[in-house]
Amino acid sequence: MPIPISPELLTFIPLFKGRKVVVIGDMCLDEYILGEAYSLSPEAPVPRMKLLRRDYTPGGGANVCNCIASLGGDVIAVGVVGRDYHGEILLKLMSRNINIDNIVISPNYITTTFTKLLATKEHSPTQQLALIDEYFEGIVEEELQEELLKKARKAISEAEAVVLADYSYGVVSDAMIELVANSAPLSVGDSRDRIGYFKGIHFVVPNDNEAAQALGEKGKNDEDIKRYGRLLLEKLSAKGVIITRGAKGMMVFPKDGEIMDIPTVARQVFDVTGAGDVVTATVTLALLAGADLYQSAQLANVAAGIAVGKIGTATISPEELEEEIKSQIS
Ligand SMILES: Nc1ncnc2c1ncn2[C@@H]1O[C@H](COP(=O)(O)OP(=O)(O)OP(=O)(O)O)[C@@H](O)[C@H]1O
Ligand SMILES: [Mg+2]
Repeated sequence: MPIPISPELLTFIPLFKGRKVVVIGDMCLDEYILGEAYSLSPEAPVPRMKLLRRDYTPGGGANVCNCIASLGGDVIAVGVVGRDYHGEILLKLMSRNINIDNIVISPNYITTTFTKLLATKEHSPTQQLALIDEYFEGIVEEELQEELLKKARKAISEAEAVVLADYSYGVVSDAMIELVANSAPLSVGDSRDRIGYFKGIHFVVPNDNEAAQALGEKGKNDEDIKRYGRLLLEKLSAKGVIITRGAKGMMVFPKDGEIMDIPTVARQVFDVTGAGDVVTATVTLALLAGADLYQSAQLANVAAGIAVGKIGTATISPEELEEEIKSQIS
């Protein structure tokens, strides 16, 4: 049964400020290249474009860092970038609101970069032409893994909470999961392919596909999701599981307590990318502020709801969250 948004939720938001959170994961760069199509190429059936703008934003784990920092948290990032141009851009972007002292710059790694090539033309909507993914493939060399573990150990000793943001580009190894499980005072995990391996992480926040895949299943109806939540709680010995379901909201599974379904509030959706990162960020800060798992999930659902209504950046401020909660109470 869903429970209504209560004014008590507002009391946690001021307590987000200054919380020390370590984010360990794959720090990615999102690149947007926008061109104005003005003719057809004489060489191939593709548009010829004039470059209008090139924008960069933090992606993957770097976006989780950005979301936590925007909500008021004090973020230490642990990860790796290549010794390359994109790495430089990403570090510069992150350094505005995140401690990047524990990001390794490695000549044996490639900065994960997702490029979106977009075309615009007067009177026509913007079109995506192509996506270009650039990333390191294979297993991160042992020396680098050791260095990442060392950085993580040091950062965790100063942390109130640790987030694992795993997009499968090599940072979140089995040894890293074990380290966090054994030493973090509070841990939250999100993983694109490996949530089933996050044993001992206190709270995990997969989406429905990731939960199904981790359990070797496919279905996504209410009963399926309830089964996945219970199975993950047991398999990971977790304190709580939140399974996000896009427009359907989320289901919350505390270790000792009832399952709660949280529907989304109907709204205009502009851009759903990064909504999961907003959930991870908000849940972590809410738990640190003393909210229980239901309250944390409710706050995260409101936060993600605001984020999907925005174009471009998916980060939100404490003030926006506060305002939206107030409007949903009255
Ligand atoms: N279409 C939508 N309408 C309203 N809310 C949405 C919509 N899509 C996502 N959300 C909100 O965002 C939350 C997370 O979305 P989702 O389950 O898609 O995460 P995700 O797949 O991990 O996203 P990401 O692509 O960022 O990794 C949902 O639980 C919900 O609160
Ligand atoms: Mg996600």
